[in-house]
Amino acid sequence: MTAKTTELPSMANWTPQSWQSLRAEQQPQWTDAHEYRAALDALRQKAPLVFAAKTRALTEQLARVANGEGFLLHAGDCAESFAEFSADKVRDQIKVILQMSVALTYSTGLPTLKLGRIAGQYAKPRSANTETRDGVDLDSFRGDIVNGIDFTAAARRPDPQRMLRAYNQAAATHHLIESFTKGGFADLAQVHQWNLEFVGTSDEGQRYEQLSTEIDRAMRFMNACGIDLSKERQLHEVDLYTSHEALLLGYEEALTRLDAMSGGWYGTSAHLLWIGERTRQLDGAHVHFLAGLQNPLACKIGPSATPEDAVALCRALDPDRTPGRLTLVARMGATKVDEFLPAIVRAVKKSGHPVVWACDPMHGNTYQHESGYKTRHFDTVMTEIAKFFGVCHAEGVWPGGVHIELTGDNVTECLGGGNEVLGSDLDSRYETLCDPRLNARQGLDLAFRLAELMRG
Ligand code: PEP
Ligand code: CO
Repeated sequence: MTAKTTELPSMANWTPQSWQSLRAEQQPQWTDAHEYRAALDALRQKAPLVFAAKTRALTEQLARVANGEGFLLHAGDCAESFAEFSADKVRDQIKVILQMSVALTYSTGLPTLKLGRIAGQYAKPRSANTETRDGVDLDSFRGDIVNGIDFTAAARRPDPQRMLRAYNQAAATHHLIESFTKGGFADLAQVHQWNLEFVGTSDEGQRYEQLSTEIDRAMRFMNACGIDLSKERQLHEVDLYTSHEALLLGYEEALTRLDAMSGGWYGTSAHLLWIGERTRQLDGAHVHFLAGLQNPLACKIGPSATPEDAVALCRALDPDRTPGRLTLVARMGATKVDEFLPAIVRAVKKSGHPVVWACDPMHGNTYQHESGYKTRHFDTVMTEIAKFFGVCHAEGVWPGGVHIELTGDNVTECLGGGNEVLGSDLDSRYETLCDPRLNARQGLDLAFRLAELMRG
């Protein structure tokens, strides 16, 4: 798919509903219009999940990253699940993100901006509208916010009530994130406790233990020097922002609110919303809808994007050239980065849009293993990151961040890593609803190797 460079729909008449007159890719075929409208009406009555002030704070943090004063760690699930939701799972997901961020910050001396694919990442784009098994055709699974993954007619029917369930789970997840990040758990004094049991014994787990001990020692040293660390908020709390792909436009529209303080429209389902590779058409509904929001935005850029497409997306999504407003997430595939990314980076740099450049080394590197499982190899993921850094350095832009699919669980979905996951292991814990995720060990391993790349 190539996003065509055509006349853009007018923003002058933008309203939260104006996307409805444009073509929206990847929307489910809701079978009962009445049921669909009733669910959206109920959502419109709900409280916002995030507030404009914190959303603006994220834009400011991203502006620092755009300026080379920080690094973005954008990480979390490919597709959050209704069935697998629990406080422990959210805690473990946060643990990995905190660990990776400590590894990065300690090694590079740069602040790590933590942005989760969490608390709303329920909708998935699919390559086909239907799936066929043994001659039976059913709707494709589009994420728990739309339908169920089981291959039965009842489960695959798009059910509008699921949007309300997604809202409720997202609300609970936002609440858990707030509790875990502000309530003592994220205190740097707890740095040892973040090592998950199955990670502790691995090489990267041991390396992390060492680093934690050094941090303890540094804190004791500062205390001994008479610095009262109890007063330093940054040592006791962290800011973890939320994000998801804004795929399901009815849901996003119903959670859009006018902010009295700034007079602008905010998407209140998450702090940052992004446009996926399959919905970045310049004349499409997704680009138009998100362009009207004040939230910081991200857009995936795959190998089919031309430099002109990328610049046109910048013009549409960041017309005022606001630092922090737009993150471009390159997801080229390790073998294509060198071929396609340099011209895109050059064109965007020349256009003067102060974007954050991030690398998604996952989605361009998925392949089917001989066992039938969809997987990614850790080494290929690292290769794409290294090549992304190379391109950014050669073109004179700051490699601002990475976008990673991972989980706090000890799954076996991606191959390789320090404690190598083998092809024969895929079957033991392959649990993802959609794309293969790094497990916590592989995530930590990635952070250490990334830190080395950054120091280099
Ligand atoms: C995703 O991030 O899960 C995804 C579907 O990515 P992309 O839009 O880059 O294919
Ligand atoms: Co994915």
